[in-house]
Amino acid sequence: MKHIEEFVDKKIETFTEELFNLLRIPSVSTDKVHKGDVKSAAQFLKNQFDEIGLENVTIYETEGHPIVYADYLKAGDDKPTVLVYGHYDVQPPDPLELWDSEPFDPTVKDGFVYARGASDDKGQAYIHVKSVQTLMEIHGELPVNVKFILEGEEEIGSPNLVPFINEHKDLLKCDMVLISDTSMIAKDTPSITYGLRGLAYMEVHITGPNRDLHSGTYGGSVANPVNELANIISKLVNESGEIQIDGFYDDVRSLTPEEREGYTKLPFDVEEYKEDLDVADVKGEVGYSTKERTSGRPTLDVNGIWGGYQGEGAKTVLPSKAGAKISMRLVPDQDPDTISELFKKYIYKIAPDTIKVKVEAHHGGHPAIVDPDFYGMKAAAKAYADVYDKEPLFTREGGSIPIVADFQKILGVNSILMGFGLNSDNIHSPNERFSLHDFQRGIKTSARFFEVLGEMKGE
Ligand code: BES
Ligand code: MN
Ligand code: MN
Repeated sequence: MKHIEEFVDKKIETFTEELFNLLRIPSVSTDKVHKGDVKSAAQFLKNQFDEIGLENVTIYETEGHPIVYADYLKAGDDKPTVLVYGHYDVQPPDPLELWDSEPFDPTVKDGFVYARGASDDKGQAYIHVKSVQTLMEIHGELPVNVKFILEGEEEIGSPNLVPFINEHKDLLKCDMVLISDTSMIAKDTPSITYGLRGLAYMEVHITGPNRDLHSGTYGGSVANPVNELANIISKLVNESGEIQIDGFYDDVRSLTPEEREGYTKLPFDVEEYKEDLDVADVKGEVGYSTKERTSGRPTLDVNGIWGGYQGEGAKTVLPSKAGAKISMRLVPDQDPDTISELFKKYIYKIAPDTIKVKVEAHHGGHPAIVDPDFYGMKAAAKAYADVYDKEPLFTREGGSIPIVADFQKILGVNSILMGFGLNSDNIHSPNERFSLHDFQRGIKTSARFFEVLGEMKGE
């Protein structure tokens, strides 16, 4: 442990500069304009793996963005194999005018680096690259077998990753997956995420009359798609925060009394939360706390809505079309495809026949839950305790990493979610940031995790 501490402390400036070089690459996966940049980020990581001395370093091309693979298998068959997963693609940086610094020009302020991807997920994924480098430079070897799989399509729903995993089961064979793409429960409070929500993402299109109409001449005579869309949306969630889609809760696994007890012990202050978000009060499913609502219960949110005149001034129009993007966060054991179907059925049921409605499903993902008693989780907990001087808390989170359920299903392995981000990191939002202190402690925790795991026998 002491070697790790000293080495990381000595090298942290170089490590940070290297991270900044990765953050300078605008690897926005959703935007075709950045295809070359996504490739450059993959190349950057490949070069790092080569320099560290990993083997089988390969950029696997896909129909979309590439997957970077590298491994170290010299620890031998009696040592566990850890598959490190992360993503080097990022969300688009817009709206640009709300950034205080350039999104692809990493800027340090108050111990945080500000840049798109700093926390989600370049900064966090890079922790493991640097931890493996640390161990290799100190010992010339690793205490466990390690495989890396870093993808460039997470933010667009990983369309090519599941097929890749299916086709490369032997290559990816492992005893557990290690992922840093989540958050700690609070500053200086290490936590291991054991649950993630799933996702069903829908788009609703409504058409009224075949063209925009003068709202004076025609208003009051035909259904207005925007009015009707608003009516439909108002029937999705009731005043008690309960989702009204028939059958929506059928497969929801209830929180156990122990879990609910655990939630009350988490460091969370609802007053601070309200103040931070500048809202008069919180709102959600009646009978559940804010922390339960954001991680242990399913939710439905309108993510975007359009229709009619949006420009300056007033235009008296009865629009022909309206639409909305609506997503649902799911908990075990809800299935995204089943929920998408239930959503469609419900919308078709409640929509009046004075309008035409079309409902489409976007990419979704399964929720996941990991057994906190899994030996890899214990190794992670020990690593955190050694570096942060605090036992980590076990928490569930509201975000989605669909590949966790796929790793479980295809490779039969648990994922250890060692998040080093903070909820206040502004991921997917302007001024994304990552604590450089946690970047440093993260590298130490990851290296320590590999050490602890290498010392464990026959678990
Ligand atoms: N890293 C996030 C997921 C996350 C965020 C988990 C915060 C826990 C806490 C990931 O990159 C992400 O953004 N996932 C998407 C889903 C995906 C299918 C596009 C999400 O959660 O919206
Ligand atoms: Mn992520
Ligand atoms: Mn993300």
